[in-house]
Amino acid sequence: METHAEKPEYLGLLNAISLAESDADVYLEAWANATTDEDLACVLRLVAAREKSHGEVFCRRIAEMGFELRPKADPGAAARLAKYANPKVSDLEKIGPERDDSGTRKFFADTDRKIAEGYFDPMTCNLMQWYIAEEKDSGRRLRAAYDCVREKSHDGKKARLNGNGASHTAEAPTADAEAIMACMTAGFSRLEKSLEKLAKAMK
Ligand SMILES: [Fe+2]
Repeated sequence: METHAEKPEYLGLLNAISLAESDADVYLEAWANATTDEDLACVLRLVAAREKSHGEVFCRRIAEMGFELRPKADPGAAARLAKYANPKVSDLEKIGPERDDSGTRKFFADTDRKIAEGYFDPMTCNLMQWYIAEEKDSGRRLRAAYDCVREKSHDGKKARLNGNGASHTAEAPTADAEAIMACMTAGFSRLEKSLEKLAKAMK
C-alpha cells in the first residue's frame, strides 16, 4: 500500500465512478431478473458484471492510494430499484426516451485528454483506459439491445392494430420515464452531477 501522501485531485472522480458503477450493477441485474426478453437480459447481465467490477476496482484503487471510498446517501435509490425490479413495468418504459449522450461523449473525450496529458498516476491511468474502453463497448451493446426492444414493440403494436383495428395498449414511454439505468444513462448522469458538484467545491 502506498503511503498516505497528498490527496490526488482526482480522488473524488474515482469515488464518484465507483459509486455510480456499483449502483448501475444493482439496477441492471434487477432489470435482467425482471424481464422476459432473454436477449435483453443477456446484455444487461454482461454490462452489470462489468459495472460491478468497475465499482470494486475503483474502490480498491482508492484504498491502494491510502484513502477510503466515501459512500453517499441516495434518497431516490429505493424507488428506482423498485421500478427496475418490477416485471409489470415494461422494458420500453425502463429504457425510456432516446437520450442526448453529449455529456457522456464529453466525459470520454475529457478523460482521454487527461490520460494523454499524464494527469493520472500510472496505475490509475491504466485503470481509466480499461474502464473507458469497456464503457464505450457497453454503451454500444446497450444501445443495440434497446433498439431491438423498441423494434419488437413497434412490430407488436402494428400486429395489434392490424388484428383488432385499435390499440390502447401502446407502450409509449411515460413522460416521467426519465429514470436512471445503465452506465450510459444513470451511471453517467449521476456521475456528471457529482463532477459538477466537485468542480464547484474546488473553486
Ligand atoms: Fe458504467
